[in-house]
Amino acid sequence: EKGGYASFMLKEIAEQPKAVADTLLGRIDASGSLTLDEVRISAAELREMDKVVIVACGTAFHAGLIAKYAIEHWTRIPCEVELASEFRYRDPILDQQTLVIAISQSGETMDTLMALRHAREQGSKVLAICNTNGSTIPRESDAVLYTHAGPEVAVASTKAFLTQLVACYLVALYLGQVRGTKWGDEIRAVIRDLARIGDAVEQVLGTMEPVRELARSLAAQDTVLFLGRHVGYPVALEGALKLKELAYMHAEGFAAGELKHGPIALIEEGLPVVVVVPSPRGRSVLHDKIVSNIQEIRARGARTIVIAEEDDEAVVPYADHLVRIPATPTLLQPLVATVPLQVFACELATARGNEVDQPRNLAKSVTVE
Ligand code: BG6
Repeated sequence: EKGGYASFMLKEIAEQPKAVADTLLGRIDASGSLTLDEVRISAAELREMDKVVIVACGTAFHAGLIAKYAIEHWTRIPCEVELASEFRYRDPILDQQTLVIAISQSGETMDTLMALRHAREQGSKVLAICNTNGSTIPRESDAVLYTHAGPEVAVASTKAFLTQLVACYLVALYLGQVRGTKWGDEIRAVIRDLARIGDAVEQVLGTMEPVRELARSLAAQDTVLFLGRHVGYPVALEGALKLKELAYMHAEGFAAGELKHGPIALIEEGLPVVVVVPSPRGRSVLHDKIVSNIQEIRARGARTIVIAEEDDEAVVPYADHLVRIPATPTLLQPLVATVPLQVFACELATARGNEVDQPRNLAKSVTVE
């Protein structure tokens, strides 16, 4: 059932272009608009929403962090993202004008379920983004947008994460569509780019051999750090989480701008640091700043592993290892930038002799609080 792959995780990483395409299927009409009839919250209600709150755990939480950038940019609705396990214990401000989005692959995570129950008790509408038909979280929500990743067996989430991102982008764009905010050529262009993104993921998958080799060479390391900015910051967090889960290594993700406020003290000779570089087009200020960050850590001895778009020449002099990804609109970049990090963690874990599908101490769905 692993279809010739050594692990479910490798199989699921390889299935990502299809998972992404399947999650878009039937949701974009011929005119390039979104048809999300399954979101059974009326357009009138969605127009009334004045805040979005996303609750999730683990990898799904990282999808939520990325969604915030898209939702606020495309809809101008304030969006908060919170760990489901923290949410209800701090008396959050919720009402009928709050749209709560609960993201969960399994649909059974108790922390997320308790958070959504709390939100509904306060009168908020809950939209679930879920990969498991008929599971508890969608059953208890007002509406559900299913991700179509297919069954995910490996404990560490890969294809479900990419489809959660796609679903979050769809919700953000749909909110923009029904509310008429920023609707127009920019959004249509994004929808077109989204429809093509599976090919970009496929392209990344075809170039992963050097990443595998690099991962194997790092098997004896104790620590790997990950840096990113903007949507690359949650990608860095996700890269670090994968390494913790699978390789049992000390791995931390930081916002690159925070380096100077503390983490730079960790940099020492030979320390591997993975840097997710934003597109040199678009928000180029961020790009320039992260290139400076790469210079700073390299000057202090870090071994830099740089994930950058294919036309980005500025990073070349400072990259000990350069991983190329296709040029992608900034907000969509996580869909391609995460893939090398998944491969990196999977290969590193395997090189350390770990069982990647069933990491120690973890369960696929955690049904206790
Ligand atoms: C954890 C899993 O226990 O639950 C993670 O090990 C997962 O991989 C997290 O991201 C959330 O799970 P779900 O099913 O709610 O997305």
